[in-house]
Amino acid sequence: MERRTIGARALAVGAVGLGCMPMSWAYSASRQRGEESLRAVHRALDAGSTLLDTADMYGPFTNELLLGRVLKERRADAFVSTKVGLLVGEQHIVANGRPGYVKRACDASLRRLQTDVIDLYQLHRADPEVPVEETWGAMAELVQAGKVRALGLCAVGARGGRRSGGRLHDATVKQLQRVQQVFPVSAVEAELSVWSPEALETLLPWCAARGVGFLAAMPLGNGFLTGTLTPGEGFEPDDLRARHPRFTAEMMAANQPIVAGLRRIARRHGEDVTPAQVALAWVLAQGRHVVPVPGTKQERWAAENAAAADLSLTAEELAEVADLPGARGSWD
Ligand SMILES: NC(=O)c1ccc[n+]([C@@H]2O[C@H](COP(=O)([O-])OP(=O)(O)OC[C@H]3O[C@@H](n4cnc5c(N)ncnc54)[C@H](OP(=O)(O)O)[C@@H]3O)[C@@H](O)[C@H]2O)c1
Repeated sequence: MERRTIGARALAVGAVGLGCMPMSWAYSASRQRGEESLRAVHRALDAGSTLLDTADMYGPFTNELLLGRVLKERRADAFVSTKVGLLVGEQHIVANGRPGYVKRACDASLRRLQTDVIDLYQLHRADPEVPVEETWGAMAELVQAGKVRALGLCAVGARGGRRSGGRLHDATVKQLQRVQQVFPVSAVEAELSVWSPEALETLLPWCAARGVGFLAAMPLGNGFLTGTLTPGEGFEPDDLRARHPRFTAEMMAANQPIVAGLRRIARRHGEDVTPAQVALAWVLAQGRHVVPVPGTKQERWAAENAAAADLSLTAEELAEVADLPGARGSWD
């Protein structure tokens, strides 16, 4: 697989990564299967998808434990990206960016991941009670201690991003400018997909201008862009899509022209090419510093997504995607 570099520390990874979140978080728990998830991780690594994206809060903790079982055997094949800063309670999720907590959380992640170094340690969300420079300073000390190789920042969530009335990523850019004064940012992670292209406005250019890598989260639109979901089928209550405004039966039906457009392009590239692969090829085409991290817990889809690294879209096809209707349904 083509290799791409992540940021200031010039860390090389496979062009398509693997998002591990669906294995233990955010999507229906009833569909999670540990053994199948392990096969998915192995298949991704076999295919050259080295970047495994997780977080201590996925599960919580069980996602890192699962990855630890693979890393114990295949540490050299993988690039581990995990996150700190969000604590999961019974009914809510809270931020914790206190330096002492960050350091303890890192040690705990290292133990669960069965490794002695994390390749990319990301601040999941800044703690409104702690100046972000203090949290970042503690993370920088982890680099100096050899526990972490590089630092990343996740974008402020879509719900909070527009709160100030500005553009979606204005708050994230402000945080990036602040932490960059303390220690170099190697990667930014934020949603980027055919139906959520907002990161192209400010975040991607910010990263490109500074040699910072960009990890594209939710590149398959939480599965919608794959064309495998049927409007009206519904989601189990613990699935994030049960509350997502784009996943009501009405909005899923209204957004079908986007999937149809991806399918049209896929057909041109061959019988076996899928809308999911076109969606990933579009993300890959947004810059050599961009690495999509499609999430899956299924071996067949880990293989399919990795193969998208070999699909390149023509300038006409990229324009065709740009001309697709905008997504209906929003958190705002
Ligand atoms: N930093 C942040 O704040 C943040 C936020 C959200 C996500 N992320 C990261 O981004 C990663 C990706 O996001 P995501 O997993 O939520 O969304 P996604 O990658 O857009 O979509 C995942 C969904 O698509 C399905 N899928 C995957 N490949 C498929 C294929 N080839 N054909 C059909 N369906 C397919 C998966 O099903 P199965 O689960 O059944 O395989 C899952 O339901 C996460 O895993 C996580 O690492 C980061």
